[in-house]
Amino acid sequence: MNAFRLEGRVALVTGATSGIGAACAEVLAEAGAAVVVAGRSVQRGQAVVEGIARAGGRARFQPLDVSDDASCRAAVQAATTAFGRLDIVVNSAGIGAGGAVLDTTDEDWLAVLETNLTGVFRMCRAAVPPLRAGGGAIVNIGSDWSLFAGAGAAAYCTSKGGVLLLTKAMAQDHAREGIRVNCVCPAEIDTPMLATTADRHGVDHAEALARYAEALPVGRVGTPREVAYAVLYLASDEARFITGIALPVDGGSTSR
Ligand SMILES: NC(=O)c1ccc[n+]([C@@H]2O[C@H](COP(=O)([O-])OP(=O)(O)OC[C@H]3O[C@@H](n4cnc5c(N)ncnc54)[C@H](O)[C@@H]3O)[C@@H](O)[C@H]2O)c1
Repeated sequence: MNAFRLEGRVALVTGATSGIGAACAEVLAEAGAAVVVAGRSVQRGQAVVEGIARAGGRARFQPLDVSDDASCRAAVQAATTAFGRLDIVVNSAGIGAGGAVLDTTDEDWLAVLETNLTGVFRMCRAAVPPLRAGGGAIVNIGSDWSLFAGAGAAAYCTSKGGVLLLTKAMAQDHAREGIRVNCVCPAEIDTPMLATTADRHGVDHAEALARYAEALPVGRVGTPREVAYAVLYLASDEARFITGIALPVDGGSTSR
């Protein structure tokens, strides 16, 4: 009865202007949470907010660059100012990157770590004080490449492996404060990031989707909402005994 409901809760989602982050914002709002849609694009962010409002939910846009500590702190402050509290943080902001170590410049390496790992660290550091007030949940979007490495993506795999260990370290440090920290690990999901990856490899989007689908046990790529439902579960009270886990949402990818 009333499973996975979030009435009275406030959620902040990073990278919420597209892909998995946008789906998380929508699904958490559908479950009754007030949502801060945080990201870099005002236009895309407003569109997500308007979609949530049309569906009867509550949301507001907050500009956010996770590579800027002041911006992370401002996003957390915006949530507590607008809605009076903060209960849930979903860290979905991220960038894709290809290249084995020999093909990776210092600049590329640092840019990927900065957004995908340090950005999560910064958001968590800003969010812990308000989350302590009533207990809460952080859900980090890792990757199946948090759990095993793929070829030709050394910096990206390193960043996502780091997100999982940061998740586990924080689960240890904050469990007694009522803050749960978990990591959702998607395989290929049909989002703008997947399209950018296909472009980087000079492969047509439809062809890339077909290749990824063929490589997954279920024979198709995932949808952003399929990831968002796992996030909803981990953010909800029904997951109150779960912290520090990696939850694959991967069409069987990690079963091999
Ligand atoms: N799509 C996949 O196949 C897949 C698989 C595994 C993991 N992931 C992870 O899922 C998360 C969401 O990616 P997606 O697939 O929805 O792609 P996406 O490109 O649609 O979403 C990523 C979002 O992060 C935002 N972002 C990037 N840098 C930022 C910064 N400095 N500050 C704030 N926002 C920033 C982008 O603007 C974008 O809105 C990422 O962490 C990604 O690594 C995606």
